[in-house]
Amino acid sequence: MTKITRTHSSTPQATPSTAAAAGAAAAAEQEISSPVSARRKAKVVIVGAAGQLGVALQACPQAEAFEVVALSRSQLDVASAESVASSDALSDASVIINAAAYTDVDGAETAPESAHLVNALGPKYLAARAKQEGAYLIHVSTDYVFGDVVHSGPPRPLQVDDDTVPNTMYGRTKLVGETNVVDSGADAVIVRTAWVWSGPTQPEAKDFVSTMIGLARGGTAEGSIINVVDDQRGNPTFVGDLAEGIWKLAERAVSGDAVRGVVHATGSGDATWLDVARAVFAAIGEDPGRVRACTSAEFPRPARRPAWSVLSPDSWLAAGLSPLPEWEATLRRVLS
Ligand SMILES: NC(=O)c1ccc[n+]([C@@H]2O[C@H](COP(=O)([O-])OP(=O)(O)OC[C@H]3O[C@@H](n4cnc5c(N)ncnc54)[C@H](OP(=O)(O)O)[C@@H]3O)[C@@H](O)[C@H]2O)c1
Repeated sequence: MTKITRTHSSTPQATPSTAAAAGAAAAAEQEISSPVSARRKAKVVIVGAAGQLGVALQACPQAEAFEVVALSRSQLDVASAESVASSDALSDASVIINAAAYTDVDGAETAPESAHLVNALGPKYLAARAKQEGAYLIHVSTDYVFGDVVHSGPPRPLQVDDDTVPNTMYGRTKLVGETNVVDSGADAVIVRTAWVWSGPTQPEAKDFVSTMIGLARGGTAEGSIINVVDDQRGNPTFVGDLAEGIWKLAERAVSGDAVRGVVHATGSGDATWLDVARAVFAAIGEDPGRVRACTSAEFPRPARRPAWSVLSPDSWLAAGLSPLPEWEATLRRVLS
């Protein structure tokens, strides 16, 4: 049977003189094309769906092109080999997006087994299931896999094939997760991102931008000073932009043009946390002068933060993907 597909968005409005003919054609088309319109959308399963990224993925308009199944931790525990292997929700998936992770960077130092289960073994189980289903796995990873890498010469953006020497439990477990995905032989892409924020788009999230807004507007006495570190540099990434990039990867896979290997997906441009804090204050009409610079040594944490976490977008661009928007313009737009 001849397949006639409908176009929607680009169909020009019918004039009165063409309306009748168009109506008849549409009726005929309806009849002929019903098997096509009944065709299922590609199934995309989001695991870790209640987290910052999982929520943003579901909120993207791009999600409407797919049959989306969103699974929170209570619906699928990625740390359970049996649950992942037997979950009906994963059956017939075209794409699996792993947004689940143990993200408490300091907590991982004292709970390494919990972090390992979710960050290292979770991706292994998901990759095995993806392979079994013939699904494409989009696994999300982190700048923390690099640790405090030292290169000769001045600092430069980190490339996907630069040495990974994580010096935190979170980074180590995430790196094992990456290796497990690669070793599985599943059709997969590993998306490293960094400094993810959601701000007012997810009021319940505890990201850096939300914390700064809280401090600016009342977390401290009005006019008071806050100290923010100025010796860590990275790429602030709006979670909505990251989610759109991930949907693009899903679209590419479903259309037979999958991106494979490791890519970096972060907001364009780099900054220190001090820069981000001051930009937040300015964007919401508070005095950026209330934010003072301090060093990481003044804020000792159980897990050491990388001083240099600037990720190169080269891998992303080489795959033919559009750069994620510039971080400060996005911040101003989202906070306006
Ligand atoms: N946030 C950042 O700045 C950042 C930076 C670089 C990379 N990343 C990566 O980006 C991805 C998304 O992070 P995010 O910011 O969305 O983190 P998030 O808000 O902490 O979300 C992670 C989600 O994973 C869930 N989860 C934890 N253990 C699970 C398990 N055993 N089974 C299923 N789900 C489980 C969590 O559920 P519970 O809340 O119930 O534990 C949470 O909903 C992660 O891979 C993370 O490593 C994030």
